[in-house]
Amino acid sequence: MNKENLIKENDRIATALKKVSGSFGKIICVVDNKKKLLGVITAGDIRRAILAGNDSKDSIKKIYNKNVSYIFENEIANKKFVRSKFSNKEINQSIFYVPVVDENKKVKNILTTERIVELMENKNLRQKKKKKLPKVLIVGGAGYIGSVLCKKLLKKNYTVKIVDKVLYDKNVISNFIKNKNFSFDKVDICDLNTQINVIRDIDVVVFLAEIVGDPACNARPEDALKTNYLSISSMAQLCSHLGISKFIYTSSCSVYGLDKQNKLLTEKSDLNPISHYARMKIMSEKALLSNKNDIFKPTIFRLGTVFGPSLRNRFDLVVNTMAKNAYYDKKINLHGGEQWRPNIHVEDVAEGIITSIKSSQKKVGNKIFNLSSDKSNFKIKDIAFAAKKIFKKSKINIVKSMVDPRNYRVSSKKFFYSSGFKAKKTINKAYKDFEKIFRNNKNFNPDKKIFSNIKVLSDK
Ligand SMILES: NC(=O)c1ccc[n+]([C@@H]2O[C@H](COP(=O)([O-])OP(=O)(O)OC[C@H]3O[C@@H](n4cnc5c(N)ncnc54)[C@H](O)[C@@H]3O)[C@@H](O)[C@H]2O)c1
Repeated sequence: MNKENLIKENDRIATALKKVSGSFGKIICVVDNKKKLLGVITAGDIRRAILAGNDSKDSIKKIYNKNVSYIFENEIANKKFVRSKFSNKEINQSIFYVPVVDENKKVKNILTTERIVELMENKNLRQKKKKKLPKVLIVGGAGYIGSVLCKKLLKKNYTVKIVDKVLYDKNVISNFIKNKNFSFDKVDICDLNTQINVIRDIDVVVFLAEIVGDPACNARPEDALKTNYLSISSMAQLCSHLGISKFIYTSSCSVYGLDKQNKLLTEKSDLNPISHYARMKIMSEKALLSNKNDIFKPTIFRLGTVFGPSLRNRFDLVVNTMAKNAYYDKKINLHGGEQWRPNIHVEDVAEGIITSIKSSQKKVGNKIFNLSSDKSNFKIKDIAFAAKKIFKKSKINIVKSMVDPRNYRVSSKKFFYSSGFKAKKTINKAYKDFEKIFRNNKNFNPDKKIFSNIKVLSDK
């Protein structure tokens, strides 16, 4: 029996936390000196104990479960007995862990009920063990990126909880509500009680809830400070305190601001933020990394400008806006045009986040990565001319005033070398997909307020 799965009752909460960290739903067997089973402890037990004021240096004696289901080695072959020992719920819930003991109650193994049923039915003895997937909390999951991420995670059988204030499209959540692996709380993440309530049974946090974009932050600077910095800082402290290992945060390449030399920027390049939004991104990156410890190891993605259709569309992003204007107004407004921007499809962002959920903390923990497509660093004018090629009836309208002077090209090689991830989807594909959506939905109105963060927020 691997000693990583065993613990003594005088051992500390901190030791138990290290043992459960990174393997989801795992139980640790509490044993005496002869490895006799005394009980079990889980990540949930540890979190509840910390929230109840216990110190990580306290022993686990008072907090582990003494009343546990276990099975003797020689009972596994007895079908009737196994069926009577576990409830249908435990058996059907394929990943319910059970200690297996010998006649002296010495722990020999920890098996899932599914594996026990397989063994007793003599089936697929060499079949690979099913791994439990982490329960993912998406804060801001009803948004542009979060809704795409949620759809992909549910398809891969993850259990997902979205918490969101639902500032924009109220219908997004209805896409998931029937899925048994999905839950939703309509809450404001700035509230500390909410933060504590939503985190209890979570393995991985993906934090996307923000007032997003320069204009929106300028319209609501205090809300932006609360959501984009203060709530992230307190969530980071809370997760660090509770020993939650993975926390994925979407920062932005806006932190590079204005790079006059047009160099290919890496995560080590100088930061030159030119907005409230970008300055808060830097503050939040620092807040996250300052809370790192042996267990809490955040991953920070600096996203390029995101594009492509989503379950919550945004037509306030450069590619999406050009698609909308080219189709409906036959006019693509080009402000400036010489500014460089890195771009990434919303589905690739979701895939990148899922890659980081699956990657070991050694590869992605405590790291900052640019997340964009190396093939999609474009000047704004190139993005406009690409639109014109797909939306053939449209014309480019050059506007002299520059509304957004940000200028940067980035490299995403660091994440590729750490995880093997490469963004695949192109701007052309997004233009074609938008064209189909617009053409097939005659009543679609992309000018509705809910598709623009600034339109909604300047009204509230
Ligand atoms: N879209 C991009 O181009 C882009 C680029 C770089 C970085 N990012 C980052 O990605 C993240 C997600 O962006 P998005 O494009 O999906 O934006 P979005 O505006 O569509 O989503 C944000 C979600 O957060 C929710 N929210 C806001 N305040 C909240 C609060 N106090 N409590 C609970 N929920 C709240 C909103 O209701 C919304 O559903 C943000 O951190 C953003 O800065 C996005």
